[in-house]
Amino acid sequence: SIDIKPLLSETGLTTFDPGFGNTASCRSDITYIDGDAGILRYRGYPIEQLATQSSFVEVCYLLIHGELPTSDQLAAFNDELRRHSAVPSGLRLLVDTCPGSGHPMASLSIAASGLAAFHTDNADPEDPDQVETATAQLIAQLPKVAARLYRNSTGKESISSDLSLGYVENFLHMLFGDEDFDQETKELYARAMNLLLILHADHELNCSTATVRVVGSSGANLFASVSAGINALSGPLHGGANQAVLEMLTEIERDGGDVDRFIAKVKDKSSETRLMGFGHRVYKNFDPRSKEIKKLATQILERHGRDDKLFELALKLEEIALNDPYFVDRKLYPNVDFYTGLIYRALGFPSNMFTVLFAIGRLPGWIAHWREQHAESNPRIARPRQLYTGPAKRDYPGHG
Ligand code: ACO
Repeated sequence: SIDIKPLLSETGLTTFDPGFGNTASCRSDITYIDGDAGILRYRGYPIEQLATQSSFVEVCYLLIHGELPTSDQLAAFNDELRRHSAVPSGLRLLVDTCPGSGHPMASLSIAASGLAAFHTDNADPEDPDQVETATAQLIAQLPKVAARLYRNSTGKESISSDLSLGYVENFLHMLFGDEDFDQETKELYARAMNLLLILHADHELNCSTATVRVVGSSGANLFASVSAGINALSGPLHGGANQAVLEMLTEIERDGGDVDRFIAKVKDKSSETRLMGFGHRVYKNFDPRSKEIKKLATQILERHGRDDKLFELALKLEEIALNDPYFVDRKLYPNVDFYTGLIYRALGFPSNMFTVLFAIGRLPGWIAHWREQHAESNPRIARPRQLYTGPAKRDYPGHG
């Protein structure tokens, strides 16, 4: 039995909404999603236009400041990122101490909250100048940490940044600077990375962004809130799904590539197996990001001229699922994570780096939401209610 008294408190009727599927917890001007029509817009701009015509830094500015930058504003923002790009030596040491066998998402979250410990003069959430600096430090320094984690985990020497390059090109340089890529490959990789970062940049109140807002609502600083967002993203039902998809495809291949058998296992409710990279809380038609990503995956894999067995398996899975009543009735379609892992793998990333790349893309979204929340005149601390189902009052038996 449930005591309903607390549900009828002086603040009104409390709703029971596990997973917050029908609860709006804020007003926001940042991102618009129409899940039935498969529409995603940042500040009103369709994602398809931004993904193919814009740059990730421009999208960062748009999400955070609300408008596209003029060319002067964009140049100033790029300068700001360069000025704040030096990772404190103590933080580099901290990252290097994390064992290469550990998951890089754990190290990335250490680095994000570590920024507050090392940049002690930029962690005050109430000081707008400090927030501006913290914003630039996160966007400029976390890709450097990510590249360092990749190099450490693969036993390679880290590569210093080259600030004469653009943001995405510099990120790729820190990751793969010692690889002998021709100019065409470099350009393709830069285009791919730019597009992927943009497509991941925001997605309204997903689990990690909601986490950033919940943590930020207590007055916690931007670094602490983003670090919490990174941890929320790491789970396999959220950002960790890109790694889980690749592991799923690898397992299917190892088992002889029997896609029908795998789908039967997914449909068998007692197996608790999910088709990773499928389904979404909001999209009930298609995920517009996955369409762009599938196009990119096809281009990248064709360019590699690779007979990619896992890509073929993914295409087969998609085809079967889109025609199977189990998935059709539940409106389950490929989400952003279904094809990204195949692209990252083709670019040379180990699977445990996939979610780190998602996190770098999601940074401007997390920051924009944290700032929007802090700009509210009277923000309320996030504090959901519960339905208590434990024992009624009982007396402690004592020791006599
Ligand atoms: N494979 C098989 N069945 C699924 C899947 C899936 N991927 N997703 C949902 N279902 C089924 C559920 O079992 C449930 O079936 P039932 O009605 O018979 O019980 C029904 O569809 C509804 O599923 P919910 O879990 O209630 O949907 P919810 O909105 O809570 O979850 C989520 C959304 C977490 C994305 C889910 O679809 C899922 O687990 N997908 C796989 C993991 C994944 O790809 N996550 C990435 C999402 S995108 C992102 O976060 C970046």
